[in-house]
Amino acid sequence: MKVDGKNLRTIWLSPDEKAVKIIDQRCLPHELVIIDLKTVDEAIAAIRDMAVRGAPLIGATGAYGVYLAALNAPSQTIEDTYWISECERLKSARPTAVNLTWAVDEVLTAVMKEKQPDKCVSIARNRAAAIIEQEVGRCKKIGEHGLPLIDEISRRKQGQTVNVLTHCNAGWLACIEHGTATAPIYAAFDQGIDLHVWVDETRPLNQGNRLTAWELGKHGVKHTIITDNAGGYLMQQGNVDIVIVGTDRTTGTGDVANKIGTYLKALAAKDNEIPFYVALPSSTFDWNLKDGVKDIPIEERNPDEIRYIEGRADGKNQRVLICPADSAAANYAFDVTPSKLVTGFITERGICKATPEGIKRLFPERF
Ligand code: MRU
Repeated sequence: MKVDGKNLRTIWLSPDEKAVKIIDQRCLPHELVIIDLKTVDEAIAAIRDMAVRGAPLIGATGAYGVYLAALNAPSQTIEDTYWISECERLKSARPTAVNLTWAVDEVLTAVMKEKQPDKCVSIARNRAAAIIEQEVGRCKKIGEHGLPLIDEISRRKQGQTVNVLTHCNAGWLACIEHGTATAPIYAAFDQGIDLHVWVDETRPLNQGNRLTAWELGKHGVKHTIITDNAGGYLMQQGNVDIVIVGTDRTTGTGDVANKIGTYLKALAAKDNEIPFYVALPSSTFDWNLKDGVKDIPIEERNPDEIRYIEGRADGKNQRVLICPADSAAANYAFDVTPSKLVTGFITERGICKATPEGIKRLFPERF
């Protein structure tokens, strides 16, 4: 995507291929900071501390994490136990986004076939790069398949502004390019469709007002930041035409784990008969799980993310306590929206119902 006229991705290799470069998303929207990851520990910390975040980007960082394991491997023959333990460490950096396990395992499988350290480096690099290109292609397709949904609403409204509501950041910052939920939005905008996005601020880490607002603004898309609780009111007032969100893990039965608060948006959308779509690349399906509410692991993060808020004052980032110092807080990072509340999935292979039959129609080889 273009930022101030320059093409930028969220992750890439340094010219000498000794480091993985990432946008440190903790610094946005106030500063665009690029940092280097040179070791598996640095890749793990970047995922855990959310310098990178969003399911496809977590996966991409995990894939390049295996490349860093190859670069830093002991120079003699590499034991299988080395690969397995480094990959387990990477996979446990965050528990909910299944893209991480998927991408790490893809690169691990490729390197485990090769025992010579020098070859492992190029195999890991090539497999990780291929995964990343594949994810970019998938997100582009999500945009193409989702565009008609927005186009149809625009026609129905005779060209009046289409109001889309989104939660968290499922934009290009959460991926590598295009985004998932934002891919149809960018495609519609680029076609000249008049649209406007309601951006949920997404407490506690404010991925909506820090990241989604930033990237929509850089692309020129009209948007308004709202509190997480405003969506229901706007829906009742007829000010939301469609909800599009991303996901961190979706079962083959159609249940969707996404940023905490997504479930409440889906309930409000159902009550107001507003279409609620989930955009995802197939790497976000967990084909092994049947009951999302029971089976998807929900990350619990440090309660201090709720108790403190970070922002910009006097030209620098400041962190302030916003609750009684001795109050307890519980920080659930994701929730699960049951399939019955989802109108459909926008995938790289097209749109389907959030049912096993609907998903099977697009991904028959998985059933
Ligand atoms: O905690 P985060 O910022 O990693 O959560 C991200 C989300 O919930 C996104 O909606 C999801 O990963 C989909 S990204 C295309």
